[in-house]
Amino acid sequence: AKLLLLNGPNLNLLGTREPEVYGNTTLADIEQHLTEAATKLKHELDCLQSNHEGVLIDRIHDTAPDGTDFILINPGAFTHTSVALRDALAGVAKPFIELHLSNVHARESFRQHSYLADLAVGVIAGFGRHSYDLALQAAHHHLSR
Ligand code: DQA
Repeated sequence: AKLLLLNGPNLNLLGTREPEVYGNTTLADIEQHLTEAATKLKHELDCLQSNHEGVLIDRIHDTAPDGTDFILINPGAFTHTSVALRDALAGVAKPFIELHLSNVHARESFRQHSYLADLAVGVIAGFGRHSYDLALQAAHHHLSR
């Protein structure tokens, strides 16, 4: 199937950004590893990171014409702020998993609300870079139901 991995604001800084919270792995490493894992499962993975809400929204809109089957998204701080990202995901009606490196529920109270979670197939949080692997596995199981 055709999968899309979206990463939101500041995730381009992974590896150097608050390593005690987010780990030492770079986003390039995560994307490369996940692309290989997706290929092994006979899926195709496209990756995009953006610090700009509108760029993420445009890419979500493009999943309708480009035939994307499933979206994996770490929306970063937009998780907690963006009605527009929510509306974009609802608008294209593609199944998606929300994922986070950190356990957002063990952090500041403003991180404990998500504008996306109730629309998601499921949410994965707290496993560092492995959250991405777990999300891929969950997407694979969802698609082969
Ligand atoms: C994050 C959690 C968010 O609260 C935060 O704003 C991020 C990263 C995570 O992956 O743990 O940028 O989505």
